Amino acid sequence: MFGKKKPVPQIDREQMELIQNAQRRIKQKRRLYIHFVIFLIGAVFLIVLNTVIGVGETTKIAGMDWFVWAILGWLFLFVYHLFNVFITHKFMGKAWEQEQLDKLVTKQKERIAQLEKTIDSDTSLVTKSSSVEEKKTPIVNGLTLIVAAGENDAIGKDNQLIWHLSDDLRRFKALTSGHAIIMGRKTFESFPKPLPNRKHIVISRQKDYQAPNGVIVVNNLEDAIDASKGDLQPFVIGGGEIYKQAMPFASKIELTRVHESFDADTFFPKIDPSIWKETDKTFHSKDAGHEYSFSFLTYEKYKF
Ligand SMILES: NC(=O)c1ccc[n+]([C@@H]2O[C@H](COP(=O)([O-])OP(=O)(O)OC[C@H]3O[C@@H](n4cnc5c(N)ncnc54)[C@H](OP(=O)(O)O)[C@@H]3O)[C@@H](O)[C@H]2O)c1
Repeated sequence: MFGKKKPVPQIDREQMELIQNAQRRIKQKRRLYIHFVIFLIGAVFLIVLNTVIGVGETTKIAGMDWFVWAILGWLFLFVYHLFNVFITHKFMGKAWEQEQLDKLVTKQKERIAQLEKTIDSDTSLVTKSSSVEEKKTPIVNGLTLIVAAGENDAIGKDNQLIWHLSDDLRRFKALTSGHAIIMGRKTFESFPKPLPNRKHIVISRQKDYQAPNGVIVVNNLEDAIDASKGDLQPFVIGGGEIYKQAMPFASKIELTRVHESFDADTFFPKIDPSIWKETDKTFHSKDAGHEYSFSFLTYEKYKF
């Protein structure tokens, strides 16, 4: 409103740079032209100095008059100047450098964009697969499989245990007492009666499966896990079908490894060492009360 308005340039930055560049080139060429003229005058002057005035008349270098050497030296400088204006500035001048730099930057940008694309798709794949995996098998903290298995993973035959190991039964009782025990219908039916001091959750596909009072019957594993909520360490006590389904959800395995291979019809699933870490081991040798040697092993699931 007050004071003088600054004059607004009528040309943009790019045009300004082009004009400045053109001015620089004109100056360079003018300097070269002046150099050429001075060189010509200088050369004539040197010839006159030597041949007419007689300066250094007898001085020769490698058999040639000194002024010839002086003119040749100057000519070399002039050629260098010429080369600088028309060749080096054109190919290695600022504009040429900028052009090369722009090319490199464009290439790098393309490469970065490509890498970003790859990373994005990889990340989404990882997120997708891990989230699908999580959805499929959300690990239930505290959910423990308790089992006794032979060296060949045998756990039963004809709906019965294959061995009698009193220390193992004692351990089973000590660990599971006061907790929820989840089992398949067949395992439940292998007991003469429900085990004392434990909440029984029996899984069966039969909608009208009848069980004694106090025994909870559910129709799938997820409902069994739900029914055990409130217990910090619910146990899955078998059998083969239920261990297999529950293993992905479990966070711990209490295994009694009986050091013998058995003929069996039911087996415990393989323990994958990349998923399960052995955290405890106690060996028990064969004795009067135990027909086989065995080890109590604890496995905990790695947290990924
Ligand atoms: N060594 C050990 O530590 C140990 C421990 C426990 C058991 N065992 C042995 O294991 C054997 C029994 O195991 P098993 O594999 O034959 O039977 P199981 O796992 O005890 O029970 C299988 C039954 O569970 C029900 N079931 C399984 N999956 C189900 C699902 N997704 N939804 C609803 N119901 C489902 C079905 O009942 P319905 O048929 O009623 O539908 C099925 O027939 C016996 O020999 C036993 O002695 C050994």
